[in-house]
Amino acid sequence: MEFSLTEKQKMLKKITRQFAEEYIVPVARESDEKQELNDAVFQKMKEMNFFGGCIPEEYGGAGLHEDTIGFSIIIEEIARGDAAWGITTAVHNGVAAYPIYKFGTEEQKQKFLIDLAKGNKVGAFCLTEANAGSDAGGVQLTAVKDGDDYILNGTKIFATSGGIAGTLLVVAKTGEKDSRKQMTVFIVDADTPGYSVGVKEDKMGVRASNTSELVFQDVRVPQENILGNPGEGFKMAMKILDFGRIGIAAQCVGLGQAALEASIKYANERVQFNKPIGRFQAIQWKIADMAVAIESARLFTYKAAYLHDKGEDFGMASSMAKLVASEAAMLAAHGAVQIHGGYGLMKAYPVERYFRDAKMGEIYEGTSEIQRLVIATTLLRKGA
Ligand code: CAA
Repeated sequence: MEFSLTEKQKMLKKITRQFAEEYIVPVARESDEKQELNDAVFQKMKEMNFFGGCIPEEYGGAGLHEDTIGFSIIIEEIARGDAAWGITTAVHNGVAAYPIYKFGTEEQKQKFLIDLAKGNKVGAFCLTEANAGSDAGGVQLTAVKDGDDYILNGTKIFATSGGIAGTLLVVAKTGEKDSRKQMTVFIVDADTPGYSVGVKEDKMGVRASNTSELVFQDVRVPQENILGNPGEGFKMAMKILDFGRIGIAAQCVGLGQAALEASIKYANERVQFNKPIGRFQAIQWKIADMAVAIESARLFTYKAAYLHDKGEDFGMASSMAKLVASEAAMLAAHGAVQIHGGYGLMKAYPVERYFRDAKMGEIYEGTSEIQRLVIATTLLRKGA
């Protein structure tokens, strides 16, 4: 077992960290307040090829499609700068661009993937509906065949980057019986008539990342835009989430790391009772617990990434990574606010934002309860 990063991965970490420090960190608070990603950062992210992180170079990407640890490192370092950019990049790559690369036809790759990889368009994954949250099989948005096209009608909610996306992966119901066996994933261009963005959500955390309601009213989509096969959309959505959750885990690792570093710095600087508070065991134990949780989460994340790249089953590992990492980020952010005391409650200190951002990770791309369900059902199915 090899625990050290490759030279290329070390370089990716260094470059992405420098980038995040220089461009993302200085505007993170303002972006959180405005609930908007910074345009200048967006352009720089494009130049750095972060939108094509896990896409091969031949489609305009950065070529980390077989180095998911390298891709995770990028997401981790971006999220260390700002978790909102972390989730935006993770979702764009993990559950929009990569599925088109992995499951799409060559024509779909030419038509949609290149623009996604270059960041000319942002991608979104549209599964969740008002009555289909944890129960992904409950999708009610319909796609009815009409000649060589399908007509989509319905509403998606809570779509990360939905309001800024140019390309959408939409999970629709294409039959009436068991919806899990009658679902299909469509690639939809946001310019298609009948498609519109509804309510933009006002969230607790990762506020700079766009989360929107998306409305489909008689949206005509050609059958060539089906990703995979008609009727196999549920399993496709599950596979998409299996990979996506590695990116979310990496995002949580980066956020937890930021909370830990802020805490160490503060504990060394803040003097109470005539000594830095880091000299008190109460604070030391918190820092130790935070560090252990984050390092565990990092190892879980890299292991899921490793299994993916080896072509082995990685669904349970990605659920474990997402579960451990989101809970580690929450523990770290909670500890960070506590260590900062009253200052931790103030917006002048980034830990206040980290705390709000961390809670999101335990919910999106499958709650912690869903991850436990996936882990337990996988184990019970496999047997002891
Ligand atoms: N890969 C391939 N196939 C899979 C699979 C996987 N990971 N998981 C399940 N399947 C297959 C099963 O083997 C089964 O196949 P058969 O019918 O052939 O036996 C079929 O799919 C149905 O599986 P289940 O009976 O397990 O399905 P279920 O209805 O009980 O649901 C679930 C399972 C895991 C709870 C699923 O509904 C789920 O993952 N829910 C959470 C959804 C989620 O994460 N939502 C977040 C959306 S994205 C988001 O957060 C916003 C964003 O913008 C990022």
